Amino acid sequence: MAHLIFLAILRRTQISTIHKNGVRLATLHSTSAIQKEGLGDFALTDRVAIVTGGNRGLGLEAALALSAAGSRAVYCLDLPEKPGEDWNIARLSVAKLGGAGRLEYVTTDVRDQKRLLKTVEEIATKEGRMDICVAAAGISGVARPCLEYTEEELEEVYAVNIKGMFFSAQAAARQMSRFQIPGSIILLASIAGSVVLKHTPILPYNTSKAAVIQMARVMACELAHKNIRVNSLSPGVIETPMTAAAFSAKPEFRAIWSEQSFMNRLGKPHELRGIMTWLASDASSFCTGSNIVVDGGYTAW
Ligand SMILES: NC(=O)c1ccc[n+]([C@@H]2O[C@H](COP(=O)([O-])OP(=O)(O)OC[C@H]3O[C@@H](n4cnc5c(N)ncnc54)[C@H](O)[C@@H]3O)[C@@H](O)[C@H]2O)c1
Repeated sequence: MAHLIFLAILRRTQISTIHKNGVRLATLHSTSAIQKEGLGDFALTDRVAIVTGGNRGLGLEAALALSAAGSRAVYCLDLPEKPGEDWNIARLSVAKLGGAGRLEYVTTDVRDQKRLLKTVEEIATKEGRMDICVAAAGISGVARPCLEYTEEELEEVYAVNIKGMFFSAQAAARQMSRFQIPGSIILLASIAGSVVLKHTPILPYNTSKAAVIQMARVMACELAHKNIRVNSLSPGVIETPMTAAAFSAKPEFRAIWSEQSFMNRLGKPHELRGIMTWLASDASSFCTGSNIVVDGGYTAW
C-alpha cells in the first residue's frame, strides 16, 4: 500500500528530462516538502550513501533517486579523474532541491580493494555514518561465441562485475557495522544473471551477474544479525551509455531486446527510481536476500 502511495506521489510530481542520456530528476521543491507530502518510510532523510559507477547511467540515476528522497550526502565513486557532464548537471539539480542533500564525487577503481576500503572508511568517518550502498559499477565485456573467449576477457569482466561488486558491498558493510547502522546494500545484477539474452553471446557478463545474485543472498544471510540488508536488483535492458555502446556496435540489438519485453520497448533509467528508493529505505525493511526483477516482462515469456 505504501508502495502505491509513493508511486502516486512520484506520478503527481513534475518530472523533467535534464539530459539526453536519460538522467532525470523529480523537480521536487525541497526535502522538507517531500516529508510534508508524506514520503513516510520511503524517506531517506539524513542518510549517507555510496554509489559505485555513479558518474553516469544507472549509478547516477540511483544517486538522484536517493537525493530526491532526502539523503544528506550521496558519494559517487567512479573511474574518471573528473566527473562527466551528466554528473555535473545532476549535482546542480540536487542542489536546487533546496534541502540539505548534496552529491559528491570520488575517483575510485572498485577493483582496488585496499583503496576502496580506505575511501569508504574516510567517507563514513567524515559523515559520521554509512547507510546505503548501491553497487552499480559494471562492464559488459566483448560479445563473442563462448568457444572463443580468452582467459583475459573473462578476468576483465569478473574483476569489475564480481570482485569489484563484492569489494564495494564489503567496504560499505564494514562501515555500517562500525556505526551500527541498519544499512541497505543494493547490488546491480541483471536479468542476464538468470536468463540468456536472445542472440546475445556474452558469457562472462551472464555468469558475472549470476554470481552477483548469489553474492547478495550470501551476504544477506551473514549480515542479517547486524541489521544490514543486501538485495540484488535485476533490470531488463535499460537505455544507458552501456547499451548505447552495444547499439553502436550492433544496431539490431535494439529490436532483438525490445521484442523480448511484453512492453515491446527498452526501459528508461528513471523507471528504476522507485525500486531503488524502496530498496534503500525502511519501506523495504523485511526485504533481504532477494533478487528484484524490473524488466518490462522480458523474463515472463
Ligand atoms: N543498462 C542496462 O541495460 C543494464 C541492465 C541490467 C543491469 N545493468 C547493470 O547496471 C550497472 C550500471 O550499468 P549502466 O548501464 O549504467 O552502465 P554504464 O556503462 O553506463 O555505467 C557503468 C559505470 O561503471 C563505471 N565503472 C566501470 N568500471 C569501473 C571500475 N573498475 N571502478 C569504478 N567504476 C567503474 C563506469 O565508469 C561507468 O560510469 C552495471 O553493473 C550493469 O551491468 C545494466
